[in-house]
Amino acid sequence: MKALIKIGGSLLDDPAARADIARQIAAVAATGVLVTIVHGGGKQMTRFLEERGVQSSFVRGLRVTTDETVDAVLKVLAGTVNTQLVAALGKAGVRAVGLTGIDSAVATAVQLDPELGFVGKVVSADPALLETLAAANYVPVVACVAGGEDGAIYNVNGDSMAVAVASGWKVDRLVFLTDVPGVMNAEKQILPVLTVADCRKLIEDGVATGGMQAKLNAACDAVNSGVGEVRIVRGSDPDIVAKVFASEPAGTGVIV
Ligand SMILES: Nc1ncnc2c1ncn2[C@@H]1O[C@H](COP(=O)(O)OP(=O)(O)OP(=O)(O)O)[C@@H](O)[C@H]1O
Ligand SMILES: [Mg+2]
Repeated sequence: MKALIKIGGSLLDDPAARADIARQIAAVAATGVLVTIVHGGGKQMTRFLEERGVQSSFVRGLRVTTDETVDAVLKVLAGTVNTQLVAALGKAGVRAVGLTGIDSAVATAVQLDPELGFVGKVVSADPALLETLAAANYVPVVACVAGGEDGAIYNVNGDSMAVAVASGWKVDRLVFLTDVPGVMNAEKQILPVLTVADCRKLIEDGVATGGMQAKLNAACDAVNSGVGEVRIVRGSDPDIVAKVFASEPAGTGVIV
């Protein structure tokens, strides 16, 4: 089985939380599941920019990205967050390899919308490097940065990066580890299953906003492109990764 695990940035900030997720991923990989990880780092990006007096602005849950933001993305996401996660995985016994979408064209993007600056939309995902690494028992850890055919470097929302890589690598399962226990309705109840139409409605009604709006759009793209199982769960819940891989109910599943 091939699986893509997307880890939200807020789960990677704390060393103990990072170590716990790394341990869980090691356990899943030890069962023979071929794993690729894509991680975000929204919280770390906002903090890094704030420390430098730069306020972040978002449009439809996506960060408006200037030249300065791209530089921060490389330093923070491709640098610190990626390397800290690779180190935690290594300690847990995983042969983790840190990369970005730029390495060997794992993800190639075009500009999504001039209003957003250097925010990329992935247009092709070459699975060759992931195949090679997975076959040799390495776990690729991909920061959500993509190269453009024009040579530009694009900031890609972590969730859309995860879906593009998952579709290109043809995974059986896509798991979003985030900081909420699932997708919530207006009454803050967790919704165990959502169809693509349900997701669109939650966005339209303003119930799924910000990062969750981006995540649901990405999840819909994933199921529409044939990814078999898509699940959104809270990464800090005890043994959540094992639960998902044992197909036990948790969080929110997205279906066609
Ligand atoms: N209906 C909803 N149900 C659950 N969460 C929601 C909803 N609407 C908005 N959210 C917000 O979406 C957030 C999750 O998205 P966010 O982008 O912050 O995390 P992530 O994608 O896991 O991390 P990263 O962006 O760093 O990769 C939640 O913390 C919550 O505040
Ligand atoms: Mg997000």
